[in-house]
Amino acid sequence: MTTRDEVRRLASESIARGDATGWFEDLYRRAEGSWSRIPWADLVANPYLIEWLESPAAPAPGGSCLVVGCGLGDDAEALDARGFDVVAFDVSETAIDGCRARFPSSRVDYVVADALAPPPAWAGRFALVFESYTLQVLPPDARAVAVAALASVVSRDGHLLVLCRAREPDEPEGQLPWPLARAELDAFRAHGLVELAFEDFLDRESPPVRRFRALYRRGTQ
Ligand SMILES: C[S@@+](CC[C@H](N)C(=O)[O-])C[C@H]1O[C@@H](n2cnc3c(N)ncnc32)[C@H](O)[C@@H]1O
Repeated sequence: MTTRDEVRRLASESIARGDATGWFEDLYRRAEGSWSRIPWADLVANPYLIEWLESPAAPAPGGSCLVVGCGLGDDAEALDARGFDVVAFDVSETAIDGCRARFPSSRVDYVVADALAPPPAWAGRFALVFESYTLQVLPPDARAVAVAALASVVSRDGHLLVLCRAREPDEPEGQLPWPLARAELDAFRAHGLVELAFEDFLDRESPPVRRFRALYRRGTQ
């Protein structure tokens, strides 16, 4: 396992060079295919995604779905298994190669792309966009750019589901992964999305971690 301290050192060096995302590729490359060395790689789908997919709030399967910062692909595969037509992207080429190697006969379209500058062809294209734990590993300036970019790829009447670590606005951000204040997610509303649900909960980790799960929809006008 690459320790959280090593990850934080890689991240802070990269961010200090003005490169908010270069360290992800470094980290995946250093793992040399031993994915348990990536601190966030649980190699199973996110339980708070699965729980939501099984709830009445989830949109009907079958639509186009974009998985943001897909890491090693488990959430993308879970969405594919439930009938979504999935594109999953990550800024790290090694992570995307890892997805293709782990799921060689997958129907998911795994692509290298940057949430800060998604391909123009994705504008307004996806009925469901799923973002978990990527905004919280971007520094604030890049995070604001990513929020605008992710809002822009949601289709008319499409949904965006966001999962992140959570904090009060007056609590210090602390160390990466940086918990988000609700106001940062409220920025999705400034980009044309309507908030449908906002959950603030403690997860099942020990000790428990406070998280937000927020659901948005693009209005019709
Ligand atoms: C903390 S991990 C979370 C991975 C996965 N979403 C999960 O929930 O386990 C963040 C992921 O986002 C990717 N990432 C970071 N910045 C990105 C960007 N600007 N565009 C696309 N992917 C990005 C990283 O390479 C990494 O795989």
